[in-house]
Amino acid sequence: MEESFVFRLPQEIYFGPGEGRRVGEHLGRFGKRPLVVVGQRFARESGILEDVLGSLARHGLEAVVFSGVPPEPTLEVVDEGIRMAREARCDSVVALGGGSVLDCGKAIAGVLPNGESVVPYFEGAPLARPGLPWIALPTTAGTGSEMTNNAVLTDATRKLKKSLRSPFLVARVAIIDPTFTHSLSPYHTAASGVDALVQAIEAYTSPRANVVTDVLALEAMRLLWEYLPQAVREGENAFFRKQVAKGSMLSAMAFANASSGACHGLAHMVGPEFAIPHGEACGLLLPPVIRFNKEVLKERYRDVALCVGLQGGEREDWGELLARAFEDFVRGVGLRTRLRDFGVPREALGGVVREERIGRSILENPRPMTPEDLRTLLEEVW
Ligand SMILES: [Fe+2]
Repeated sequence: MEESFVFRLPQEIYFGPGEGRRVGEHLGRFGKRPLVVVGQRFARESGILEDVLGSLARHGLEAVVFSGVPPEPTLEVVDEGIRMAREARCDSVVALGGGSVLDCGKAIAGVLPNGESVVPYFEGAPLARPGLPWIALPTTAGTGSEMTNNAVLTDATRKLKKSLRSPFLVARVAIIDPTFTHSLSPYHTAASGVDALVQAIEAYTSPRANVVTDVLALEAMRLLWEYLPQAVREGENAFFRKQVAKGSMLSAMAFANASSGACHGLAHMVGPEFAIPHGEACGLLLPPVIRFNKEVLKERYRDVALCVGLQGGEREDWGELLARAFEDFVRGVGLRTRLRDFGVPREALGGVVREERIGRSILENPRPMTPEDLRTLLEEVW
């Protein structure tokens, strides 16, 4: 655990049913002409986009809508958004959607005052100036992009998924309105919730964890473990949705400051290679990562296991107990737990681990991981 640390979050975080429909009030303090970034269907079909545009209009703000952001946003999509925002002279961004939309809106806001294209920054050039102020309005409870300083983007030609990272990317305002998640399908509820749970566990076991992130991560795990299965079963239940939204918010606060781990690193490798959605990739990869790390993280995994209500004796193999219980949990909310369930051919596993795909979350794993270890790990969940 870190002795010295810094803790960063958006300047303001609003939580509560109905908060999302007050977005105009908040944006009006720093923008007049926001680019509203949305995905392909959900925001429009659920009526949420209309409510958000209504709130902006009531405050005299002229919104420009950039719609159609796909899951796993590519560099081209971000560049298209930058072009649109520049031509329309937008001075701020509102990103309304799941993690992909938030990451795309965040990248557009961050890059626009710095250059024409996201590409040089994706390749590692630092952002020299602050981005446009932006507001995050998540419609899923899970990815945590509303709190973090990174945008996960995909270079489609190289099937390379990695983070654009800068302190300038943090949202000015994050608004977590649990009612925005009420019409999410059971599948999306489960996938985003499992992502949040994995993020909390990885934040807690991260070498960058500190006393603040620990407190947040533990409460996040407790809430998600208890309420996610119920929110998947009863999506209309406002109480379950609110508890899951709280768990997701706390998880995001924790991992935004402690970092995610090897499970996320691996998920970013297999996701673009085999078109496996992020939440499901994280859900199936965590058990082998726990097994790989269980000797060096004994106490931490015991804490996690106890926090989610597992019981064991004095000589318990806590890592193994947790790995099994987690796999049952993932299956219980209806997600797949094997790579072959996605039609991945076994022979294809060898090509997944490439040097350029090995990012920070793998390099910082508490037990050093070789490319060979990573391949063995993938074999285990095939
Ligand atoms: Fe994630």
